[in-house]
Amino acid sequence: MSQRYQAVVFDLDGVITDTAHFHFLAWRELAQSLGLPFDEAFNEKLKGIDRMGSLALILAQGSQQYGDAEKLALADQKNAHYQELIKTMSAEHLLPGALETLIAVRDAGLKIGLASVSKNAAFVLDRLGISDRFDYVVDAALIQRGKPDPEIFLNAAEHLGVAPAACLGVEDAVAGVRSIKAAGMYAVGVGDPAVLTEADDVIPSLRDFKLSRYLTA
Ligand code: BG6
Ligand code: MG
Repeated sequence: MSQRYQAVVFDLDGVITDTAHFHFLAWRELAQSLGLPFDEAFNEKLKGIDRMGSLALILAQGSQQYGDAEKLALADQKNAHYQELIKTMSAEHLLPGALETLIAVRDAGLKIGLASVSKNAAFVLDRLGISDRFDYVVDAALIQRGKPDPEIFLNAAEHLGVAPAACLGVEDAVAGVRSIKAAGMYAVGVGDPAVLTEADDVIPSLRDFKLSRYLTA
């Protein structure tokens, strides 16, 4: 028996769990210590942006120039604080429908991958208690180009041993949807269809993920 899709590759933050608030707390403390403005609206711009890219956006709010070593130290400081915060995570931090979706996808015989630019993704999966539900988790440290570049989703497909055209990608960010499409996968957006206009399908949350709808298409 053959079916069109053989794997589903998920983004983590905003799809399976919501770590944005923890990133917000950690970045805000760093920004404030540097005398730079930081609020929830600014934090929105950092979703899906990797650690050094996020730091660059925050530092661009001020006029001071920082050398590479200083920037690395600032990023390490933020990350140490973030890691303290995410130690408090548990299965209660799974977004509605996330666990049910992972179970349904595996029960249907499809492989499951994770494509997150977070270098803390494996730790977060562990805290959520779902590490063993993934066949492959991309190591963000090995990814050269962030989303919207297709590299991270292509890396997932390759390691799952499934052609990109036989993969569904699931994302909540515009750059993430673009990355999925550039990889040649079917893009399921999670969020607002008016925002995720490039997705092939958009659902409000994983509570509404119906695998059969894609398998029979
Ligand atoms: C993304 C988050 O998933 O991971 C970003 O949306 C974050 O806000 C990025 O900066 C990198 O995360 P980390 O854990 O490697 O600093
Ligand atoms: Mg996301």
